[in-house]
Amino acid sequence: MKVKVDKNGCIGCALCVETCPQVFELDEDGLSQVIGNKISDDDMERVKIARDECPVSVITVL
Ligand code: F3S
Repeated sequence: MKVKVDKNGCIGCALCVETCPQVFELDEDGLSQVIGNKISDDDMERVKIARDECPVSVITVL
């Protein structure tokens, strides 16, 4: 599975980073980005929570 963040819509609230710091980090502009390509099954559960919690719904799980 792949995770994407649409940075154009991200408002940098950092909820995803708090929820799953193994997968999300803030870049130098304070917007979320995905760390690396390989996401473990354990992290995937947290990623889905982060996706559902994002206030502007810019996290996509493919
Ligand atoms: Fe951005 Fe949503 Fe995370 S607004 S910082 S992708 S929770």
